Amino acid sequence: MDERVARQWERRQYGNMAVIGNGVDIIEVRRIAEALEKYGQDFLQRILTDKEIEEAQKHATFHEHIAGRFAAKEAVFKALSNERLTFLDIEISNENNGKPICSLRNNKGGKDILLSISHVKNYAVASAIVIQKTD
Ligand SMILES: CC(C)(COP(=O)(O)OP(=O)(O)OC[C@H]1O[C@@H](n2cnc3c(N)ncnc32)[C@H](O)[C@@H]1OP(=O)(O)O)[C@@H](O)C(=O)NCCC(=O)NCCS
Repeated sequence: MDERVARQWERRQYGNMAVIGNGVDIIEVRRIAEALEKYGQDFLQRILTDKEIEEAQKHATFHEHIAGRFAAKEAVFKALSNERLTFLDIEISNENNGKPICSLRNNKGGKDILLSISHVKNYAVASAIVIQKTD
């Protein structure tokens, strides 16, 4: 199957909305703690925006929260694997009720990203679904 046809098969159309990508990621919280130990603030600034760093510092479960953000951004990379994104192109925050919301820098085509994040002491997991209006 040629690549163009394969891409059309991946796409799911719902009325004027299409699901254009889906990604999931899991990470050991220990890896985040180790990277922070080794690279400190440089590591944080490579993966999180200034606003995300400020928010993260308010979390009691700091390492788990960062691991959740890391997994979420990796899930977005998978969901948008044909775009060249960096960690800082993606910004995640929480609504008042805790629900994560995601914005993309230079969001071409008005993509909307549905994120879900979970973390426990040792692992963080996230999924990302990307939808886009088609008209
Ligand atoms: C929303 C809820 C399910 C989150 O559960 P939780 O076990 O605290 O969540 P996890 O530890 O798995 O994951 C935490 C992540 O969930 C996400 N989250 C928090 N509240 C959320 C919400 N209202 N909607 C969607 N995602 C939410 C956040 O991304 C959070 O991580 P972050 O703060 O680092 O961004 C829970 O707080 C809740 O409100 N449950 C209502 C149902 C209930 O009370 N059931 C009781 C059964 S005994």
